[in-house]
Amino acid sequence: MSSVDWALQAYSSLSELGIRFLKCLERNLSLYEYVPLKVLSKSLNVKLEKVNKVAESMRKQRLIVFSASPYKGYTLTSAGLDLLAIKMLAERDIIIRVGGVIGMGKESDVYLGVTPRGNYVALKFHRLGRTSFRKTRRLRSYGLVSGGWLKQCISAARREFKALEMLYGKMNVPQPIDREYHVMVMSPISGCMLYRYRGLLTRRHFEEVVEGMKISFCNGVIHSDLSEYNLIVDDDSHILFFDFPQWVPPTHPNADLYLKRDVRNMIKFFRERDVSIPSLEDVLKVIRGA
Ligand SMILES: Nc1ncnc2c1ncn2[C@@H]1O[C@H](COP(=O)(O)OP(=O)(O)OP(=O)(O)O)[C@@H](O)[C@H]1O
Ligand SMILES: [Mg+2]
Repeated sequence: MSSVDWALQAYSSLSELGIRFLKCLERNLSLYEYVPLKVLSKSLNVKLEKVNKVAESMRKQRLIVFSASPYKGYTLTSAGLDLLAIKMLAERDIIIRVGGVIGMGKESDVYLGVTPRGNYVALKFHRLGRTSFRKTRRLRSYGLVSGGWLKQCISAARREFKALEMLYGKMNVPQPIDREYHVMVMSPISGCMLYRYRGLLTRRHFEEVVEGMKISFCNGVIHSDLSEYNLIVDDDSHILFFDFPQWVPPTHPNADLYLKRDVRNMIKFFRERDVSIPSLEDVLKVIRGA
């Protein structure tokens, strides 16, 4: 079962104390690897025996993990954090249902969600650390966040949401709708991933990529993981950009490096598809408006 499956399975049986328990673990993510039982009992204002009882059932539901040494304590699992996020989104009337998986990245699971008005949204659950051996370059641009992988996931969702807020309406990106913990709610996108696109790719497509990069740059965002895997040819045959958690502002010390890498990736991809492309320097000039 996936982490979201565990969360959904536990959803309706979770008590009010259970939710407070999970929230308390989340608040303490940066302080403790395992939150001591005594701290939990005190913050929740509940006797130790009661804490243990609630914890035991949540442990069986895979929402938390117990550690016996060097002291007794609990920590959240990704299912526990998924449950908190889903619960909060539902309480705030952002979603009423979580549907099936619509995408799976190396560092995220994307699910379909349904709003109270019956519209579909995409729910991106950030999963940093799932492939912890992955190149550290991505982590570097995320900035260091203490408190383990779950904190990093929350930070990634926050960053990605911010980028979409900065860019939506100015260029073709998913509409940012909301965010709760490590889950970003956005409009669903459809079309064909650029790497899978079998139609004729032309200079016009490349120019749309460059135009998007220029608008993004002018609005303070360098994607920093741009490739044919993070672009879609949408249903209107326009290029759509997504997957922004590792973006950096043009003032970042490595901004130049990331921008050049993004441009190089795109030049390489389009050249391999026999589209005639200007030089790296010329493309950079267009993007920087210099
Ligand atoms: N708004 C959306 N609507 C529908 N599907 C989406 C949406 N966003 C992402 N997806 C799907 O989920 C997959 C993973 O998304 P995304 O690339 O943002 O995550 P990732 O884990 O950072 O990916 P990567 O594997 O590049 O690290 C995408 O390839 C796409 O198929
Ligand atoms: Mg991606």
